[in-house]
Amino acid sequence: MNTKVWKVDNYVDNLKNNPQVVDAADFLRKNEVVALPTETVYGLGGNAESDEAVAKIYEAKGRPGDNPLIIHIADRQQLTRFVADVPHKAEQLMDAFWPGPLTIIFNKKEGVLSEKATAGLATVAVRMPDHPVALALLEVCGLPIAAPSANSSGKPSPTTAAHVLDDLNGKIAGVFDGGPTGVGVESTVVDCTEEIPVILRPGGVTLEQLAEVVGEVHVDAALTDEAARPKAPGMKYRHYAPNAPLFMVSGTTGFLQKLVTEKQQEGLKVGVLTTEENVDQYSADLVLACGRRAELETVAAALYETLRRFNQGQVDVIYSEMFTNTGVGNAIMNRLQKAAGNKLISE
Ligand code: TXA
Ligand code: MG
Repeated sequence: MNTKVWKVDNYVDNLKNNPQVVDAADFLRKNEVVALPTETVYGLGGNAESDEAVAKIYEAKGRPGDNPLIIHIADRQQLTRFVADVPHKAEQLMDAFWPGPLTIIFNKKEGVLSEKATAGLATVAVRMPDHPVALALLEVCGLPIAAPSANSSGKPSPTTAAHVLDDLNGKIAGVFDGGPTGVGVESTVVDCTEEIPVILRPGGVTLEQLAEVVGEVHVDAALTDEAARPKAPGMKYRHYAPNAPLFMVSGTTGFLQKLVTEKQQEGLKVGVLTTEENVDQYSADLVLACGRRAELETVAAALYETLRRFNQGQVDVIYSEMFTNTGVGNAIMNRLQKAAGNKLISE
């Protein structure tokens, strides 16, 4: 399959009438799958009401069929079509964070969406992305669009159109290049089907921000207890993994450097994931600064790009510094721990 590339400056006016947007939306209406930029990561979009389109998404990604997709909308009115009820707290969260990096789980209205999109669950995950191209595509095609991150299953999520093509060139109808995404980690997934909202996946909207709007917020046990079964099916799979094994390292820069030197003495090529503050502290085969520790948003924005760069460097093993578990640091640590398969070395 020839993968088409559309491109437009995000800041041009009247995106809805832009021929690139109109053409890509036409592909979506014909049940083809199209990768599109959002404010978090690139998504692999397809008509959420079509079994045919949704099957193409799972196929292109190699995604397990029991892992449901997030449905993207441009207009809250669309909820009434496939959501059974909108609880008050969900209403408050939408007022505060939509469009934006927050996915809300609702009870589903049966018989509208492809069963494959929700993996046969009685609930559905929905979000309104905060990206001009995504919103224009959603409005022009007029459909609810199912979109997981546009990577091959297990790989780091894509934050540029080039990352999408690295994984999916030839496997999808097209990719809409809207430049690098901003947030860099995926949306926060919050289950609002229970009285007290529960975070199933940490992401771009922090626990602290959610609590400010709805008061008490719970966190799915699986996020802190490796043995617990996660409520978001996708959270049980290994994700975001670079080709080389990745270890989180808890300790001083000196301790991490000692690990590097030992491996190099064994003849291995070693990578270090650090930040701009500490980049001069290490000597290794590939030392990559992932943003600035003092501004965690910059770490989130650079995270997946950095993980992908270790693949190009062809290192044999990667050691990563740790990050604080508060604010967006919570999402960063969640992704790194998954990329590491929970491998941790402590001083
Ligand atoms: O930022 C994002 O959320 C990106 C962009 C493209 O919107 N999308 C994304 O989708 O990260 P994906 O498929 O990579 O992750 C969706 C997560 C998975 O962990 C999945 O199991 C969970 O949401 N999920 C989807 N529907 C669910 C449901 N009904 N109940 C519980 N978890 C659900
Ligand atoms: Mg994903």
